[in-house]
Amino acid sequence: MPKLSVLDKTIDVPAGRRLVLAIEDAGVRIGHRCGGNARCTTCRVQFTSGEPDTMTEAEYRLLNERGLFGQYRLSCQIVCDHDMSVTPVMTADNQPQWNGDTGPAPDPAVKPDAVWQPIEALRGASPSA
Ligand code: FES
Repeated sequence: MPKLSVLDKTIDVPAGRRLVLAIEDAGVRIGHRCGGNARCTTCRVQFTSGEPDTMTEAEYRLLNERGLFGQYRLSCQIVCDHDMSVTPVMTADNQPQWNGDTGPAPDPAVKPDAVWQPIEALRGASPSA
């Protein structure tokens, strides 16, 4: 079972669990203001270890649009299939304007339907990345 470390917590995660949901399982109220559909970036995290070397096309598109590619990953576009250590950026605790509303509950499956690509291939497909 993969281990997830987030902030000061480490939990066992069922393999294949969406990272955004696993972070919530750890008791961290991470943002997912678009409901986990690769539209908002409030679910973004920084990896300390275990960053996947693939990325959904939807994640790549959004990170690139927002100038965040190479700095952050979208936890709604990642599944836990190995050990990971992450730091969430936006949570209910540091975003008081959310009034505790982290967003609609994400589906258990990655949405939009995941098309994973090697990051290097995505980078090579766009000179602006
Ligand atoms: S981009 Fe909105 S929840 Fe991931």
